Amino acid sequence: MTLRLGVNIDHVATVRNARGGALPDPVRAAELAVRGGADGITAHLREDRRHITDVDIARLADVLSVPLNLEMAATDEMLAIALRHRPHAACIVPEKREERTTEGGLDAAGQHNVLAPMVRELAGARIRVSLFIEPSAEQVAAAVSLRAPVVELHTGRYADLSGEERVEELRRLSDAAALAAKNGIEVHMGHGLTYDNVAPIAAIPQVRELNIGHFLIGEAIFTGLEDAVRRMKGLMEAARG
Ligand code: PXP
Repeated sequence: MTLRLGVNIDHVATVRNARGGALPDPVRAAELAVRGGADGITAHLREDRRHITDVDIARLADVLSVPLNLEMAATDEMLAIALRHRPHAACIVPEKREERTTEGGLDAAGQHNVLAPMVRELAGARIRVSLFIEPSAEQVAAAVSLRAPVVELHTGRYADLSGEERVEELRRLSDAAALAAKNGIEVHMGHGLTYDNVAPIAAIPQVRELNIGHFLIGEAIFTGLEDAVRRMKGLMEAARG
């Protein structure tokens, strides 16, 4: 099974918004990421529009030659935007205004009643729905009962830990991936992945897609985005054997 790379370009918009102008342009970043081997582009339209804006989503939906994955909170406003632009995929994430980045996964089990109609509407519009969840059997079971076709397992804890604790978290990710795949759910992973920690994640056989942003945009400052994406894709392919 091949392993796709989705490049998250949110932080190109973060740099742009620091000055309030039009540069650097996230759409140009998306095009360079594709040249470097990105199989898809991911963008998170946050409620507070701190990086990606509505106009960015409209432009990306218009010009991209690869699938667009819209990360969104489970709100009516975001649902309406997704239905208007019809990205290839929508990844539902938890969102808190005060957080710096997406902390923890969705409580797919506790939020069943909010998520069920949203998953149904997005799927009805032929948007491939993914739920961003913690790697636990309880959350995978909730995704199964919501009939989500895809889960994205949160690798943030794995990225933050070291030694035995990291090995244990890798085991949780691997077990959750196997359980999801056994139930017919496509498995993605992402958050906090770098050149140094991507290989064990890429080697998990059930994983079909990794979504990586912050590290690649940072690395692009030094080597250019196209080169950074190409190197990450190379590491993923090598880990896959
Ligand atoms: N996947 C999801 C669902 C996310 O919310 C994020 C962060 O926006 C990522 C992947 C990428 O994480 P990072 O920027 O740490 O690579």
